[in-house]
Amino acid sequence: MSEASTRTLLVRFARSLFERGYSVGSAGNISVAVEDGLLITPTNSCLGFLDEARISKLDREGRHISGDAPSKEVFLHRAFYETRPGTGAVVHLHSTYATALSCLPELDPQDGIAPLTPYVVMRVGKVPVLPYVRPGDPAMGDMIRQLQGACAAVLLANHGPVVSGKDLSSTVYAAEELEETAKLLFLLRDRQPRLLTPAQVEELGRAFAKP
Ligand code: 13P
Repeated sequence: MSEASTRTLLVRFARSLFERGYSVGSAGNISVAVEDGLLITPTNSCLGFLDEARISKLDREGRHISGDAPSKEVFLHRAFYETRPGTGAVVHLHSTYATALSCLPELDPQDGIAPLTPYVVMRVGKVPVLPYVRPGDPAMGDMIRQLQGACAAVLLANHGPVVSGKDLSSTVYAAEELEETAKLLFLLRDRQPRLLTPAQVEELGRAFAKP
């Protein structure tokens, strides 16, 4: 896909996420790999009102080469590209339910999203919970690198979800799946939902490729 088409698609998906309430204000950021580097949403921009021409572009070494100043979470995005070969996009949101979940101290740090439905297992996989650091702290990149590419998504404690994937559409869909699963977990909080068994999770892994 040409860079021009990628810019158009990035603006369209970002607006769609904003209009459906997956991001508010200037929260969240999205990056997409292009042939000679990375496109990333500008810092303090609203996902609902991006301008294709002002999207930040970084070269392969992470230097800002055009557009507005990049998201302060660039470290976080680059860590996924560096550790997961084949990564084509990264989406970070402050979506309500996943962020609410990220504030619960009892979450399993190895996997903050219980295997409630097949789609969250297939599209998102295990979601480690990373300790809180301030937004834009390069330490976040280090924590993601320490996972050595084992997981496509993480929850940043008291902050929100980050999802990576092979291209923009599948990454956005996975971020939506994660948010909706977090919502289901809250809806079912006072019940005792049946979770998929390890054997069922394993079967999904065999039958469907993970992101
Ligand atoms: P940026 O505006 O720098 O992208 O940061 C927004 C955000 O979501 C911080 O986590």
